[in-house]
Amino acid sequence: MAKEINTIGVLTSGGDAPGMNAAIRAVVRQSIAKGKRVMGIKRGYAGLLDEEIFEMNAHSVSDIISRGGTILQTARCMEMHEPSYQKKAAEMCRKNGIDGLVVIGGDGSFKGAQKLADNGINTIGLPGTIDLDISCTEYTIGFDTAVNTAMEAIDKVRDTSTSHERVSIIEVMGRGAGYIALWCGIANGAEDVLLPERYNFDEQAIVNHIIEGRKRGKQHHIIINAEGIGHSTSMAKRIEAATGIETRATILGHMQRGGSPTCKDRVYATTMGAMAVDLLCEGKTNRVVGYDHGEFIDFDIDEALSMKKDLNEYQVDICWSLGNS
Ligand code: ADP
Ligand code: F6P
Repeated sequence: MAKEINTIGVLTSGGDAPGMNAAIRAVVRQSIAKGKRVMGIKRGYAGLLDEEIFEMNAHSVSDIISRGGTILQTARCMEMHEPSYQKKAAEMCRKNGIDGLVVIGGDGSFKGAQKLADNGINTIGLPGTIDLDISCTEYTIGFDTAVNTAMEAIDKVRDTSTSHERVSIIEVMGRGAGYIALWCGIANGAEDVLLPERYNFDEQAIVNHIIEGRKRGKQHHIIINAEGIGHSTSMAKRIEAATGIETRATILGHMQRGGSPTCKDRVYATTMGAMAVDLLCEGKTNRVVGYDHGEFIDFDIDEALSMKKDLNEYQVDICWSLGNS
């Protein structure tokens, strides 16, 4: 028989992402609507181990749906990798009456959730990361806001780049995943896009591309560089020396992680937050919510973590070919 859940805990873990607050709000209010107690856990697994746990009510999440960041704050917690601390985290849940837990974070956070499920706490993961790098889902909380923030920033750099007839290298976030770079590459009409998934790029080809463009009368040349490739400043120096054209590097950095979530991030994060509570109330555990082909669905966490995804090859091809013509 499915375990009946009385108290639901919620935490955010790993890098923050716009829309996490909308998900927290949905978890809290859906729990209350279903007659459950709800506990907020501060600073991810670190706060769980330190017992930074407090009861939440409908008012605790007033006025947060439009706010970036996470009111619960987030952290990375090395101890959680160790079985003794995983056991302690589960005991901390039990001590506070938490029998169901919603973990909002990325793949790493899901591994922690999996361990808590192994230790008897019903857990559901929600995909929260600006990187879109969770294989079981086409949507992650925060990507839409982050990619729009990056796109708008790149448009602005492009204006001044054109005025000064410069080359601009703009570095966007994504250490292991090039989704932000690829989407901006297409949306900003960049001349070159460097992706961590396609690590072997030819810098001389970029230099040739810049020189040919200049001969054809191009007044700017935008290179979007993913963080996973990095080294934008030294690359700018080399490109300037090789082309004779002034080249500047702009690293967008953490501005991409903040800001008020887009409508899509608010709506999808809210839907996923409510769904996590519904799954717990149905007695489900060790599941992660995803979005696939227009539907919100849930997967076994083990299955979700074993899935692989790559950038859409067709989009990579058109991104490169349209920027090259
Ligand atoms: P994300 O959740 O965004 O992928 P991290 O990889 O930094 O971010 O993971 C967030 C946290 O999840 C880590 O600080 C750690 O507490 C926990 N975690 C990550 N990997 C594991 C693991 N293999 N086992 C248990 N907990 C883990
Ligand atoms: O996972 C999101 C992300 O913003 C990545 O794109 C980036 O590599 C990483 O987090 C940076 O994390 P932090 O600066 O918090 O260590």
